[in-house]
Amino acid sequence: MAEPPRSLPPKWFYDARGSELFEEITRLPEYYLTRAEHEILDRRATRIAQNTAAGTLVEFGAGSSRKTRTLLDALTEAGTLELYAPLDVSRSALEEAGQALCRDYPALHVAATVTDFESELVLPHGEGPRLVAFLGSTIGNFTPARRRDFFAALRAVMAEKDTFLLGADLVKDPDVLRRAYNDGRGVTAAFNKNVLHVLNRELDADFDVDAFEHDAVWNAQQERIEMWLRSRRAQTVRLQSLDLTLEFGDGEEMLTEISTKFRRESLIAELNLAGFEVREWWTDSARRFALLLAAPDGR
Ligand code: AVJ
Repeated sequence: MAEPPRSLPPKWFYDARGSELFEEITRLPEYYLTRAEHEILDRRATRIAQNTAAGTLVEFGAGSSRKTRTLLDALTEAGTLELYAPLDVSRSALEEAGQALCRDYPALHVAATVTDFESELVLPHGEGPRLVAFLGSTIGNFTPARRRDFFAALRAVMAEKDTFLLGADLVKDPDVLRRAYNDGRGVTAAFNKNVLHVLNRELDADFDVDAFEHDAVWNAQQERIEMWLRSRRAQTVRLQSLDLTLEFGDGEEMLTEISTKFRRESLIAELNLAGFEVREWWTDSARRFALLLAAPDGR
């Protein structure tokens, strides 16, 4: 019987170079996600600020925090915000963002935390209701089981007046999706392959990065984009820190990332099951991307 393909956790992508490459991806013409989400945030930030009256903004996967500025502006304007708590796997992205934020929002307390989503979920305590933001469709990196666990764990630590703002990319024409992950300039390919540099450094491995090629395919059954790295030849890779030797066949593929695309009904159902009530569902004008605002249900 065939072995399942090898796969990697997404956090390995975001070393300093990986975070830089991802920033570059967000500016690509093919990668509509960031612009679409921004369009929604621009339009709805004031409403979000009014509805949540957040004293604390907790952001999962904050990265450069660039997209968050619209929210920070609206919450500062509303006069409720005191603390911004960005959480991310990338120390370099947080450090850079933190400096700029302290400069631009002198009255705001900023408490950044380097964390992966695999450890225990803890929400920082601050003044007033907390708004928990998880933007950019990073939730798409989770398998359905991890998503369920994440929603449940989040719900368990949320207080009655806290709210949850989730950005989710939507199912659409597969050609548009494939192009977004196979850009013409090869930035996504470089981002994908960079994960091998990270493994070489972090696990003392000896991947020959140029002996792998990038591909991104649409998995219609599971409604997700899958990023793969395909071995261009038969090769042996040594991962010294794990005392592990891997054999790759010619053409053998490794699954490096999943990027799930969502539908309104099923996403809302998942959130309801986890104990959330979805209060708002907004999309961009081309209906490519959704931003939703949820709150703990009355139970
Ligand atoms: C940051 C996880 C939302 O899945 O679209 C972009 C990462 N990978 N291009 C995504 C990514 C390839 C991105 N997320």
